Amino acid sequence: MTAQSRTEKTVALVTGANKGIGYEIAAGLGARGWSVGIGARDDDRREEAVRTLRAAGVDAFGVPLDVTDDASVAAAAQLVEEQAGRLDVLVNNAGVTGGMPQEPTLVTPETIRTVVETNVIGVVRVTNALLPLLRRSASPRIVNMSSSVGSLARQSATTDELSTGPVSAAYSPSKTFLNAVTVQYAKELQGTGILINLGCPGFVATDLNGFRGVRTPEQGAAIAIRLATLPDDGPTGGYFEDAGVIPW
Ligand SMILES: NC(=O)c1ccc[n+]([C@@H]2O[C@H](COP(=O)([O-])OP(=O)(O)OC[C@H]3O[C@@H](n4cnc5c(N)ncnc54)[C@H](OP(=O)(O)O)[C@@H]3O)[C@@H](O)[C@H]2O)c1
Repeated sequence: MTAQSRTEKTVALVTGANKGIGYEIAAGLGARGWSVGIGARDDDRREEAVRTLRAAGVDAFGVPLDVTDDASVAAAAQLVEEQAGRLDVLVNNAGVTGGMPQEPTLVTPETIRTVVETNVIGVVRVTNALLPLLRRSASPRIVNMSSSVGSLARQSATTDELSTGPVSAAYSPSKTFLNAVTVQYAKELQGTGILINLGCPGFVATDLNGFRGVRTPEQGAAIAIRLATLPDDGPTGGYFEDAGVIPW
């Protein structure tokens, strides 16, 4: 696939696309005939994912990307510009938990810093670097992979670990922070045509939780694919799971 013919397709970039839910988001968008940038920080894991997706018929291209690194993110934006000249859909999927247990009375400042750096600041860093390319799209979409564990309404309504996750002073609050930042983006970008929304994949069996989740990565990817393909009159600044709106 040449950069020239890529400009005629819908172009997406998925961060953390080498495995788990991000990989399946890339596969799902690629199955629609889109060109998909596989954002991943590790060369071998990225190349392997690109190879597998291409073998399945997806127009995938590798994008070296560490969301915590300014230079890496700037280079990724430049690569997408060279490959496609614009970006239609950005899926900010990369995320870390910081490891459990994570009780507030025991958590280290370093754990909180690491998790926020990836799950919140990383999203802001990547989004702002890619915004000039998104602004060139006719129907730009941004999907931020959050989690229902970031819902303060759910956290304060129940102690059921299945709906709130374990007590967590870094991971869950990082998603609450991401939700808040996303609402601010939606306010600033109102009227620009850029729709930005939050998706929760449900409890998915991936490396993130030692494969304890009950859903498949493909099922987890569905909400992101839905939000990536919203019509122009679709919602913005919303927080969704498969079943509908999640309370803040
Ligand atoms: N699994 C669930 O039940 C669940 C539930 C709710 C929300 N989520 C969210 O869904 C998203 C995907 O999670 P997952 O379950 O698919 O986890 P995963 O299998 O652990 O995948 C996480 C991805 O993020 C990448 N990543 C981490 N830090 C990065 C960085 N600094 N720069 C670039 N990439 C980085 C990882 O790359 P490496 O391979 O290099 O580490 C990997 O590709 C996350 O935002 C997560 O919070 C997951």
